[in-house]
Amino acid sequence: MTRRVEGKVALVTGAANGIGRSAALVLAREGAKIIATDLQDEKGVSLLRELRVAGYECEYYHHDVTSEEDWQSVVAQTRARFGRLDILVNNAGIGLSGPVVDMAFADWKRQVAVNLDGVFLGVKHSLPLMREGGGGSIINVSSIAGIKASPNVSGYCATKGGVRLFTKSVALECAAAKDGVRVNSLHPGITETAIWDTLIGTVEDGSNGGRERGPTLDKLTERAVPLGYKAAPEDIANGILWLASDESRYVTGTELVIDGGRSIG
Ligand SMILES: NC(=O)c1ccc[n+]([C@@H]2O[C@H](COP(=O)([O-])OP(=O)(O)OC[C@H]3O[C@@H](n4cnc5c(N)ncnc54)[C@H](O)[C@@H]3O)[C@@H](O)[C@H]2O)c1
Repeated sequence: MTRRVEGKVALVTGAANGIGRSAALVLAREGAKIIATDLQDEKGVSLLRELRVAGYECEYYHHDVTSEEDWQSVVAQTRARFGRLDILVNNAGIGLSGPVVDMAFADWKRQVAVNLDGVFLGVKHSLPLMREGGGGSIINVSSIAGIKASPNVSGYCATKGGVRLFTKSVALECAAAKDGVRVNSLHPGITETAIWDTLIGTVEDGSNGGRERGPTLDKLTERAVPLGYKAAPEDIANGILWLASDESRYVTGTELVIDGGRSIG
């Protein structure tokens, strides 16, 4: 049986941990050649080793998604190594929480830089290489926070809502250009990853904790997720895989919500 992204080249940002790491593993297993990038080199290199030991073609590059120079360099290295780019997963992100009046302007700007500028730069610098190859699939990892607001995460909601509409606009631009590039956003709900270390305690209940991550996240999940449990990173990676594969060839500009029903409840 042919694997679902056989022979495609996939660039995954924020691949050292959580959803990005899982996406890199799932895409590799389904036949893609992987460019994994992150700031956390030790974990990135460990992923690289794991993929290579399993026999997959993979590179890891240090990459700050807020840096235009880094993006130019990563795309140039992708071109040199694989000659093409078929899948871009703009996954790197951070979550900062707290009441808006307490949010330092520097933290607001940092969150915008990683979550929104990073996605813009990724699309801008990857599109030419994708177009040269005749098309591709861009998956911008937003959040249900980009659809449904919660208190005390105004900056996070603003960036993720921005990713959602940025995605739709670029999808229309690519469709009009008939370049074969599809652009979609993906909206995870509560997923068990390290991002909750900086989010929990201030989301929804307004408390300013953060120290009782386990119980607090479990409590939030129980209250807010109709299915009653958190997503595993693989649950989100499977959605990334579908958007990356040709199975979703008629899908562009859409928002794929994977949240255990949270945003409808
Ligand atoms: N975990 C959830 O519940 C959840 C829900 C909705 C959306 N998301 C989104 O999923 C994406 C992945 O997050 P995660 O949950 O796996 O968190 P995570 O913290 O486990 O992983 C995020 C990765 O991004 C990297 N990163 C951060 N800043 C970077 C930068 N400037 N340049 C390059 N890499 C950088 C980190 O080093 C880390 O490896 C994020 O965009 C996040 O907003 C997560």
